[in-house]
Order: sequence, then C-alpha cells, then structure tokens
Amino acid sequence: MPEITAIAIDGPAGAGKSTIAKAAAKALGCIYVDTGAMYRAVGLHALRSGVGTKDPAALAGLLSGIKITLGYENGGQRIYLNGEDVSAEIRRPEMGMAASDVSAMPQVRAFLLDLQRDMAKRHSVVMDGRDIGTVVLPEARVKIFLTAAPEERARRRYEEHIAKGEAVSYNKILQDIRGRDAQDENRSTAPLRRAEDAVLLDTTGFELEKSVAAVLQIIRDSMQY
Ligand code: DC
Repeated sequence: MPEITAIAIDGPAGAGKSTIAKAAAKALGCIYVDTGAMYRAVGLHALRSGVGTKDPAALAGLLSGIKITLGYENGGQRIYLNGEDVSAEIRRPEMGMAASDVSAMPQVRAFLLDLQRDMAKRHSVVMDGRDIGTVVLPEARVKIFLTAAPEERARRRYEEHIAKGEAVSYNKILQDIRGRDAQDENRSTAPLRRAEDAVLLDTTGFELEKSVAAVLQIIRDSMQY
C-alpha cells in the first residue's frame, strides 16, 4: 500500500457495503470508516433531544452540542456520541430513516464532512456511505458503487435483524428501504449517486463471500498490486 490510500464504497441501504468494506479494510490493512453510523448518531441525538429529525433550524442549533468520535475494536468500528458508546443503539430499525432525514440537511452534512475528511487525511481508509466517491473523497484511489435489487437488500436486512432475535416485518423493511432510497437519491445536497469513475457492482444473487471476493478483485485490479 502507498503511504495514504482511500477507497470509497457507496451504494443504497442493504447493498452489503459495511460487511464488504470491513473485509476489504482488513485485507488491505486500512481503517474502516462507516459514515452511515455518523448520520445515525446525529439522528439519535435529535430524537433523544426531542427536536425530532424533520426540523432543520432546530437541528442546526443542536450541532454545536454534538461530539462524535470513532474507536476501533477487533477490526470493528465503535461510535461514541458525546462520549457514550451508541454503536448498538444506532442499529435499531427506525434509526435508518432518522439518519436519512437528518442527512438531507446541508448543515449536518457539512458538520460530518470535516470529520470524514480528517480521518482520510490521517489514515488509509476504506470509507463507505452515499457520497464518498462524489463529495467526501473525490480523489479516492478506488471507487466502487455497490447495489442490489431492493427485495434482496430488504431480505438481507430482515435476516440480520432476525439473527439478532429482533421481531421485524419483511414488508416494513422493504418499504423503509424504498423510502430511504428515494429520499437519499432525491435530496439536493450530495444525493446518492454513482461517481462517474466508480466501478458498478450489482450483488443481486451473490452470497456475501462472492461479493467480498468481487470487491477485493476490483481493488486489486485498480491498484495493480
Ligand atoms: O448506511 P446506513 O444505512 O447506515 O446510512 C443511514 C442513512 O445515512 C442513509 O439512509 C443516508 C445517510 N447517509 C448519507 O446521507 N451519506 C453517507 N455518506 C452515509 C449515510
């Protein structure tokens, strides 16, 4: 690996970004940065504070009271909201939509952009999100846009929740995924879209191992190592 390298992995909810990015980071000896977790932490703070996730002015007023920090344990990312480890709480099913709501606000995006770029300045990273290749790290060495059919993404999320013993409805998850896709793709600031120079990988019908192998191959081909 050259001194500092950035790999950007973008795509919609449930495309497998986090598992694949984590595996790629491990294989390459980079730090994995899950930017969705940062939006989820802001969404959690907004819900806890009682202002909700739909009021940009009120939310902008909260930002100066939010400190988000990342930590690493056994190759996994931990996220701290004002010093509290909220890594498990931000995975509750309703936190995805809360994150999508707050992520449409330009002030929230600007607030997190500094943190994201700072990570990439100090470490080699595999960073995943929605706008990493287009906005956060447009100079990333490798860009990958991961996608899969909505029904398959919903099924994967459903199985993750069931494996954790959480009672969820497949139809509700599918509805949530479609709603989030629309909201993330249609917002005016940094919408979800493939960077022109990103490699598109559709993992519909792939087992996880196959997706990981395909991503590692794309990275190897792009970096010629
Ligand atoms: O990847 P995720 O499901 O944890 O992301 C939660 C929400 O955060 C997603 O619906 C949109 C938003 N997000 C974003 O706008 N930009 C990013 N770089 C990452 C996430």
